[in-house]
Amino acid sequence: MSLLTPLLLALAVAANPVLIPKSSAKALKARGLAKANGLSIDAVINEQIDNQVVSYNASVGVGSPATTYDLIIDIRSSNTWVGVGKLYVRTSTSVQTSNRVSVNYGDGSFSGTEFTDQVTIAPVHLKGTLSPAILSTVPTVTDNLFSGELITSNEIGISFEPTTTAESLNGELTWGGTDSSKFTGSIGFTPITGTSPANQYWGINQSIRYSTFTSILATTAGIIDSRTTLILIATDGFNSYVRATGAVNDPFTGLLSLTRFQFENLQSLFFTTNGITYELTANAQIWPRSLNTAIGGNADSVYLIIADFGSPSGEGFDFVNGFAFLERFYSVFDTTNKRVGFATTLFTHATTN
Ligand SMILES: *[C@@H]1O[C@H](CO)[C@@H](O)[C@H](O)[C@H]1NC(C)=O
Ligand SMILES: *[C@@H]1O[C@H](CO)[C@@H](O)[C@H](O)[C@H]1NC(C)=O
Repeated sequence: MSLLTPLLLALAVAANPVLIPKSSAKALKARGLAKANGLSIDAVINEQIDNQVVSYNASVGVGSPATTYDLIIDIRSSNTWVGVGKLYVRTSTSVQTSNRVSVNYGDGSFSGTEFTDQVTIAPVHLKGTLSPAILSTVPTVTDNLFSGELITSNEIGISFEPTTTAESLNGELTWGGTDSSKFTGSIGFTPITGTSPANQYWGINQSIRYSTFTSILATTAGIIDSRTTLILIATDGFNSYVRATGAVNDPFTGLLSLTRFQFENLQSLFFTTNGITYELTANAQIWPRSLNTAIGGNADSVYLIIADFGSPSGEGFDFVNGFAFLERFYSVFDTTNKRVGFATTLFTHATTN
């Protein structure tokens, strides 16, 4: 079968009222380091499950006849696996390999049996390996789509809209291309960073500035991560942001909070990568107020989505542009050209929060 057009898939976004413990981000960095040094990931890090405020799923069929599973979209990992909540149903297309699989994400793990099976994404079928055992050396479903000539380029375009209700259908994933109806202007690309350990993920070089003159981070490496809820910044940069905004730590949510007056004076943050600057407005820097109570906060308070990474800058992994960033910018993960792209959207300057 040949279908050389991008595939679109709507994503369901569920906002579950729990925040990620800080230690998850540190584990992510440690895992990247271990991987860069060729160490066994499982042997090095053990850490608790992370709780996410926001998770999003794509409905994918496996087998023939297909059983439909809600797969969590995780750009951080190359594994596709099923079996939580809904057991894997073997059909005539399911072929068991001789491999056992076990992956520790640091913030959770799974183990199981490897199969190759038919995967149905929208109306297209392809053979994919489920639960590949070794990260990054086994073709992902996207790789297989590409090598099977079902899509023209090995890339994924991701569109999210700011989440203001506990559950909403507001994302779109495009396999093999981008959806120009989801962004404004053009996509600016930046190469994957050479700096370790950020280069073990979708890592880029980026600087962050508050308002016109306040440097938060000089150009340094970090990652884009769809599974991290907030925007995390190395402790020294985070402290500069705290000083610039006057924010204080809120013990109930664990987030920074601002008074009304401070919020009225909150300035934009500017993220610059490869010479292109993306503006994260004041509104985009706050937690959606409609979800304040869902995280144990006060309905009338203003909480910030900028959080402390928990380790100093200069260690090759100094920021995580998480979901709160991706809700404001269209993103493209281009495997062929080893680069990440961003574009503004209708929501970049929206005041939904
Ligand atoms: C996403 O998938 C997980 C795991 O199957 C499930 O628990 C969750 O309810 C799903 N969320 C949505 C919005 O479908
Ligand atoms: C990123 O920053 C590092 C460290 O300054 C530099 O060596 C590298 O050339 C930069 N660009 C890329 C694409 O890695």
